[in-house]
Amino acid sequence: MSTPRKIIIDTDPGQDDAVAILLALGSPKELDVLGVTAVAGNVPLALTQKNARIVCELAGRPDMKVFAGCGAPMGRKLVTAEHVHGKTGLDGPVMPDPTMPLQDMHAVEFIIETLRAEPAGTVTLCVLGPLTNIGTAFERAPDIIDRVQEIVLMGGAYFQVGNITPAAEFNIYVDPDAAKIIFGAGVDIVVMPLDVTHKALTTRPRVEAFRALGNEAGRMVAEWTDFFERFDKDKYGSKGAPLHDPCVIAYLLKPELFSGRHVNVEIEVTSDLTLGMTVADWWGVTHRPANALFMGDLNAEGFFELLNERIARL
Ligand code: BDR
Ligand code: CA
Repeated sequence: MSTPRKIIIDTDPGQDDAVAILLALGSPKELDVLGVTAVAGNVPLALTQKNARIVCELAGRPDMKVFAGCGAPMGRKLVTAEHVHGKTGLDGPVMPDPTMPLQDMHAVEFIIETLRAEPAGTVTLCVLGPLTNIGTAFERAPDIIDRVQEIVLMGGAYFQVGNITPAAEFNIYVDPDAAKIIFGAGVDIVVMPLDVTHKALTTRPRVEAFRALGNEAGRMVAEWTDFFERFDKDKYGSKGAPLHDPCVIAYLLKPELFSGRHVNVEIEVTSDLTLGMTVADWWGVTHRPANALFMGDLNAEGFFELLNERIARL
């Protein structure tokens, strides 16, 4: 059997981030989570680092190393999303405060040190929030860029255009400067844009299936979903809410659930109107070289089967 793939989860939990972390921690045969690095995004850093620890404890992994990273984007003011995720970022069920410690080291230092210490090409960065921690690490330690195996990130959109503004998806919008660094770095990048994550949609039967798993993790996933679905139902008139961030982890476990194209993706960083837009050359109308595998479709049934199977193990 092959050894599990080494990953760092960079995240701003967030209910959907939380489900992604559970999916990873429920898959120890395939994934070796070296650490969880928190970033400011859905809510400020003080809450995202705390939420990351709450989720690790829920998964029965109080031994997991959780690091706090950047509290604000590389060159702009923080924009948060309490209107989606609630005041705590993990609104829904009442959850106990974590007792596991936060690591002393800054998340950016951890990312740099880990990439330098592990053999080149063996660590994958799974990015579920604004790209600030990774952009800062690349800027501070350019020698690590070539050592990254792959970056798999949730962010951007093409056909769905935007969710936080008419033109931009939240994770890219919050720190477009960091995103520009990442997309220009020459690293292998896999992108889960809104075009895909809006297909990872909860429905009543899917939520009830989580609840019926009979464990605490399944119950929490159902209760988080009960809370944050209201936003997308109201906005899009959809049956449920998109589980954006678990798409990143699901890709590592079952890439065959996804299909996409290798295209050029550029990030808008100057226009007020379209700040944070991911300009993806889906139709190949420029000669700009491809820099990302931009996903376009998802097998939703297979995705929810995988989630149920792995969350049941926690
Ligand atoms: C992304 O923004 C956050 O609200 C979610 O956690 C996800 O990472 C979706 O646009
Ligand atoms: Ca997120």
